[in-house]
Amino acid sequence: MSAKSKLSTLILILSLVFLYAGCLAFAKQDPELKQCTHQCRVQQQYDEKQKEECVRTCEEYHREKKDRESLKEVGQDPDVEFHPGGELSECQSRCVGLAGEVRQLCLFRCQQKWRRDHASRWEEEGKKQSKEDAEDEGEEEKHNPYVFEDKHFSTAIKTGKGRVDLLTKFTHDSDILRGIENYRLALLVASPKSFVVPNHFDANAIFVVTQGRGTLTLIHEDKRESFNIETGDIIHVRAGTPLYLINRDDNEKLFIVKLLQPINQPDHYEVFYGAGGAKPESFYETFSTEILEAALKTSRDKLERFFDKQGKGPFLEASREQIEAMSSHEEGSKGGGLWPFGSESKSKSAFNLFRKREPSHCNRYGQLFEVEEDEFKRLKDFDLRVSYANITKGCMSAPFYNSRAIKIAIVVKGEGYFEMVSPPVSPKSSQEDSGGRKSGSRYQKISSRLRSDTVFVVPAGHPFVTVASRNNNLEILCFEVNIENNVRYLLAGEGNYVQQFEKEAKELAFKSKEEEVDRIFGNQDEEFFFPGPRQQRGRDYE
Ligand SMILES: *[C@@H]1O[C@H](CO)[C@@H](O)[C@H](O)[C@H]1NC(C)=O
Repeated sequence: MSAKSKLSTLILILSLVFLYAGCLAFAKQDPELKQCTHQCRVQQQYDEKQKEECVRTCEEYHREKKDRESLKEVGQDPDVEFHPGGELSECQSRCVGLAGEVRQLCLFRCQQKWRRDHASRWEEEGKKQSKEDAEDEGEEEKHNPYVFEDKHFSTAIKTGKGRVDLLTKFTHDSDILRGIENYRLALLVASPKSFVVPNHFDANAIFVVTQGRGTLTLIHEDKRESFNIETGDIIHVRAGTPLYLINRDDNEKLFIVKLLQPINQPDHYEVFYGAGGAKPESFYETFSTEILEAALKTSRDKLERFFDKQGKGPFLEASREQIEAMSSHEEGSKGGGLWPFGSESKSKSAFNLFRKREPSHCNRYGQLFEVEEDEFKRLKDFDLRVSYANITKGCMSAPFYNSRAIKIAIVVKGEGYFEMVSPPVSPKSSQEDSGGRKSGSRYQKISSRLRSDTVFVVPAGHPFVTVASRNNNLEILCFEVNIENNVRYLLAGEGNYVQQFEKEAKELAFKSKEEEVDRIFGNQDEEFFFPGPRQQRGRDYE
């Protein structure tokens, strides 16, 4: 079947569905998707692939529709826009003769097609934005030492069953982040039913599970500690603690974000595999054979055969029985969930961000979960707070700054962008004392699109804001280091710091009547999360 007739059949199906759905628009469960999918499956002229594609289009359409509805809820204008110029408007012009829902559908199809044709649009737009900004600021290329993307991760370990990606040093091309040079960030991804062989490393670490289900075992001096881990679990691992890990899910990958604080060198840590063999190479084997013979009281041949067996690398496949046996069976040991009731031993190493807790800020525009030092004492070792922001699509966080904490943030899900106020930045080579600014503005706007695994750093005192795209919630995991005595100064919305000024200070500072100042700074009465910008400059980032 030609692409054209395929398209028209699809439009026909979707319009039928639309009419059908019209009658049921208020039924509780949206039957539209079901009906649409059904229609796809019974098209005899479709082969399997075409049926699948048809189903996918139904799903896309349905998702889009829901998005539009939820945008309406948060006061955004979701109406299909006419984009002037280019293929899109040409396609859209074909919808002009149509009316009502069929027209909407036609417009939708155009948008879908346009999106597909511009799958790499994001990339291009991102580049364009950087260029524009560079032009604005008369720079050759925008230098952004605060943001780290895919290219800044190197793969430390990669096997069929999993991988570890290590982020470059925070100071890799700028001294601006010297304050956190003794932290490293790594991402571990373990395939379903895999086993990560026992290892230890010369760094203190905080692990945060961002997806999946596993079991982590720590070997302490006098006991073994195993706990089942799941999304939101925060685990503290002291330097040098031997540990092993399984992904005990049959289907889902296990994702762990690790913040590491190396011991021996400020910005570098090493992983040591004791158990293992040829691969991962066991450190036992590094000793001279005569030492090993004596230490293990075993003959050379036996040892050679013994240490030669394991050759599959640090991520291994485990059988269902092995997984089952290693999963923690103790009721209370689930993901540190026994807090605050747990026995001392278990609750000390793990804590869940989400379970049995209220967010510290919550409205329909977003949620913020935070773990304070005194809730999870182990964080004290790090002078750290772990937090998780879930910004509703189309919404934004309040602009604020931290008085002394440095925020290391990683996007877990969704996309959007952030803007931050920074003193002008220049590459490492041409850094001068900040007193020696050449010209123009005291500040520079740092901005970047955000998407899964983008890491960005917000230094102390730097005002910033994050915005979720219109399509998806933006979920960000944050490590805030230097948290002791930190104050979060909100710059807008309920509780913003200007509201605390005296009358005279307000009037002098803004050269306006107090009422005027109060009107401006009192107008936004939401706290911490707001509806996002209507005209997003960040449209470029969507
Ligand atoms: C974030 O919010 C969305 C929508 O409210 C919800 O479905 C999702 O589970 C939330 N994520 C977390 C980690 O709580």
